[in-house]
Amino acid sequence: MDVKKLLKKMNLEEKIGQMLQIAPHNFISKSDTKIHGFEYDLGLTNKQVFSAGSVLGIGNAKEQQELQRKYLNDSRLKIPLLFMADIVHGYETIFPIPLALSCSWNTDTAFHSARISAVEASTAGIQVTFSPMADLSREPRWGRVMEGYGEDPYLLSMFVRAMVKGYQQDDISAKGNIASCVKHFAGYGAPIAGLDYNTVDMSRLSFYQTYLGGYEAAIDEGSKMVMASFNTFDGIPATVNQFLMIDVLRNQLNFNGVTITDYDGLNQVIAHRVAHDQREAAIQGVEAKIDIEMASSCYMKNIEKLIETSIINENDINAAVGRILSFKNELGLFDNPYGHANIDDEKRLIKSKEHLAKAKEIAQECAVLLKNESNILPLSNNSKVAVVGPYATSKSTNGVWSWKGSINDNISLSEALINQGVDVVYINGENPLPTDIDMLREIDIVICALGEDIEKTGEAKSIVNLELPLFQVEWIKLAKILKKKVVTVLYNGRPLVLNNIDQSDAILEAWYLGSKSNEALTDLLIGKINPSGKLTMSFPRHEGQIPIYYNHLTTGRPFNKDVHNIYTSFYLDCERTPKYPFGYGLSYSKFEYENMIMSDKEIYLDESITASITITNKSNVAGYEIVQLYIQDEVSKIARPEKELKGFKKILIQPYETKTVKFNICIKDLSYINSLGETKYEYGRFIIMIGSNSNNVQKKYIFFKENNNEDKKYT
Ligand code: NOJ
Repeated sequence: MDVKKLLKKMNLEEKIGQMLQIAPHNFISKSDTKIHGFEYDLGLTNKQVFSAGSVLGIGNAKEQQELQRKYLNDSRLKIPLLFMADIVHGYETIFPIPLALSCSWNTDTAFHSARISAVEASTAGIQVTFSPMADLSREPRWGRVMEGYGEDPYLLSMFVRAMVKGYQQDDISAKGNIASCVKHFAGYGAPIAGLDYNTVDMSRLSFYQTYLGGYEAAIDEGSKMVMASFNTFDGIPATVNQFLMIDVLRNQLNFNGVTITDYDGLNQVIAHRVAHDQREAAIQGVEAKIDIEMASSCYMKNIEKLIETSIINENDINAAVGRILSFKNELGLFDNPYGHANIDDEKRLIKSKEHLAKAKEIAQECAVLLKNESNILPLSNNSKVAVVGPYATSKSTNGVWSWKGSINDNISLSEALINQGVDVVYINGENPLPTDIDMLREIDIVICALGEDIEKTGEAKSIVNLELPLFQVEWIKLAKILKKKVVTVLYNGRPLVLNNIDQSDAILEAWYLGSKSNEALTDLLIGKINPSGKLTMSFPRHEGQIPIYYNHLTTGRPFNKDVHNIYTSFYLDCERTPKYPFGYGLSYSKFEYENMIMSDKEIYLDESITASITITNKSNVAGYEIVQLYIQDEVSKIARPEKELKGFKKILIQPYETKTVKFNICIKDLSYINSLGETKYEYGRFIIMIGSNSNNVQKKYIFFKENNNEDKKYT
């Protein structure tokens, strides 16, 4: 398709239509697509609806084909509709929520889950997914941390890349592939006080050093679209923020694909009180080069007049529509408007045996063993077990943003344990606690399946109390009064404050692991699979510590436990460390780290150096260990974090085997980004750290030098 020629044939109304995205029910009243967002009457005429260029969500292949056919019948130039949807962690085969996925520290899990999501969603005619969410967040109060990949920019970027690759592979028009729209540009993961949609107020330094990397990684990996975020940035809503949308996105990151607002995002510029009305919002959107307006009608209702009165230049509209049409062309829609929607493929591929098997395998890598006193886990063969608490019988393990997944496909933890032959003698998923506790007396271990209600996680689900409700904790107390061992399995979408479940002998962080959650968890509980996940967000001891993250600066008055000085950076009423740090997670194996060696003490420009360490599995259980590399720039022109993750390896170590892990460190790993977004290198001493988590590392020093004789500092 020659996009330029097509553009020339289009009238203004048709062009503006391409810049509108609306939900399917606007076209077909009976659509069963679920939409995330408050819906109101957009006030569009039938003609305007049928000029819209893209659709938000679609129920299945049949619905997509019917809608596309109906649309094309009426369409003068036969420009196909484009179907987009939120396929965040699975279509119908549901994978672990993204936060859990990142705890695998294995980007293959992201790649394969995105691949399968793409294969399934494309059979239903979906051509673009609003994923990955590359918003870095240090805010467990914010419900959307479940959609992200944790608190670390390096790890997050790796996962974001794998997701984009998994969705798109090398050709977005090929069967089984869909295009990725990275979101929410930018800084959405840093709302003040963890309150969703709240103001974001960050320095340019934080923006460039910490928050930008995730989006940049997605774009670098070829993500075809970018969604603007709801928040303000420097006082201007991101949707119309020219610093973000033009200076950074278009000019610095060289993004030349299609941009889209978030749901009703352009209209919300009015609520932010940065535009008086939809007309002003439309002007600001066009000036920020926002191509598609999702679920509001500022463009549709105003652009024509704004061009007539020369307030908007039609060339800007042509540029936006050109980008949209080129994207449709790249997706192959002009040749095949239905994409890969195919009812037979839907039946054959969705929730296939292979897909579900992969979902289970991935889920097994994502749970994190937080505590295991006296090696109570894995459960021994002859233990008599009780399974209690709200998740004992619940099948609700998909996590939000899994609108096509059905919990009816899942099984509960008690069912999964029974299926594996565990001697489950008591099950109670009801509250309050039973008055008759005789049944509990004969059991050895109480598995408390506790957690957050799924509806408390995700968009618009901010909370201030991160503790489990007391009625759930009562189960642990009761078990302890009866002198039973307690294994707590936690289902949640954010780091929680776990003090009130401290009495548990073991804690398995289960997150929401998707369709095969409880089968995977059972394999871990019985030791068929050895837990290997590690945390990608710090777990606070108290809500008052938030935001708490491992890669913080040192401060001018760092706390030193060995020196008595009250004028240092600490809390009077709480330890300053997290309860469970970034990178932490246990295994049934026992790994010992020793003998860290640097291949050289000095590193010069354009060179690299190797750090190695040996790890021995001092147990009779084979297991995966996630070995982490952190670096500190000891002295630099701007204050740098105490440590930053610069590499990791996940390795299998057989019983009593010793393995050497090597990390290649190059000059880029020693660089930093300044407040202008420039990469800087400074000579000097660096601390190289390798360990099992951010709080447990061995250290070596290296010098970065210009040449053999010099160690002067310069930028
Ligand atoms: C609002 C959410 O913020 C965004 O992530 C999502 O993609 C859109 N709604 C569309 O559902």
